[in-house]
Amino acid sequence: MERIVNNKIIVALDYSDIKQALSLSEKLDPTYCRLKVGKQLFTKYGPSIVSDLQKNNFDIFLDLKFHDIPTTVYKACVEAYNLGVWMLNIHLLGGYEMAIAAKEARDKVNKEAKIIGVTLLTSHSNDSMSHLGMQSRDDVVKGLSMIASKAEIDGVVCSPGDIKAINTFSNNLDFVTPGIRLDNETDDHSKSYNPKRALELGSSYLVVGRPITEANDPMSVISQIKSMI
Ligand code: C5P
Repeated sequence: MERIVNNKIIVALDYSDIKQALSLSEKLDPTYCRLKVGKQLFTKYGPSIVSDLQKNNFDIFLDLKFHDIPTTVYKACVEAYNLGVWMLNIHLLGGYEMAIAAKEARDKVNKEAKIIGVTLLTSHSNDSMSHLGMQSRDDVVKGLSMIASKAEIDGVVCSPGDIKAINTFSNNLDFVTPGIRLDNETDDHSKSYNPKRALELGSSYLVVGRPITEANDPMSVISQIKSMI
């Protein structure tokens, strides 16, 4: 259940030091943003980083992008949901059966939690797709989103620019969108969108990392995002 309707910002805590992550979280209000714990913090500090952040009432998106055979993903997802996370993700390249296994793990532990599928990393361009011997980016995103829709998981991680095409065949998915920038920077995303445009395109949740974590004044960036949306 959503705490408030407008809680669309997910701050990606891509820090190498727990002190930085906790220090930012202490300045943030859990009623208007959620926190994403990714591979770096989780690998370094383990599950305690999740419980430390939950103590301040934050919903946690555990971004470990599971991708393995269905039974292994099922077992890993059970452990992750047992940490009380609000959202967890898998790579849809793992296929329909793997998505079903992840959803079953969620249903076993906490039906209210979300299971989200990564379509293609927003760092993939059409060129990098062809190096992998894959079809165009758009076709792959569409195919993987169809898996998410058929498996009836909660949503997909995609670029805001992909939402329109996905909505042509599915209206039951949440869209979790990284690649959000307040200026025209892209960093390693093939394209970026500002928060307002991403929401206009249909984003359900905005994942924002470096614009906040690398800012001299992270709180002013968050206020700026709030004022834009
Ligand atoms: O710093 P930035 O705003 O680019 O951070 C984006 C965040 O979103 C990172 O934590 C990255 O791991 C995550 N991401 C993702 N799925 C993608 C692309 C980025 O979860 N397809």
